[in-house]
Amino acid sequence: MQHILLLNGPNLNRLGKREPDIYGSETLEDLESRIIAKGRELGASVSTFQSNHEGELIDRLHLAADEEIDGIIFNPGAFTHYSYAIRDAVASIPVPVIEVHISNVHNREPFREHSVIAPVAAGQIAGLGFLGYDFALQALIHKQGKEESND
Ligand code: DQA
Repeated sequence: MQHILLLNGPNLNRLGKREPDIYGSETLEDLESRIIAKGRELGASVSTFQSNHEGELIDRLHLAADEEIDGIIFNPGAFTHYSYAIRDAVASIPVPVIEVHISNVHNREPFREHSVIAPVAAGQIAGLGFLGYDFALQALIHKQGKEESND
């Protein structure tokens, strides 16, 4: 069984209440239970973690390497745009990370266009709402399956 971590950064605990015109009306709990259910359908177990604190996100990324997590779906929130410490944490672990953004960061304020995480991520999905997390889950499961068949 594959183990996937769903990691959400700052302010994503406010989903459902926060700028619903941009982020929709579903909550973080809705998102987490949906990805857990999708994972189950695809034969993967999904753990979830959300934090508003940079250091806690870094500690969770490090722990994922020790726990032999196979892939991480990560929405780093605003840290995406400036946290070199989170970028270094992603680069420090051998686990593939797919960066996800609910909104289309390319048609909003200019500061959102740049990601310091993307160069060390396995891929990036933006602008597809919660569906982006589903695609990231599928991509990580597919990627891991391919790696195992190459062993
Ligand atoms: C976000 C986009 C970021 O720019 C913003 O700071 C967020 C959410 C998204 O999911 O669209 O907190 O990562």
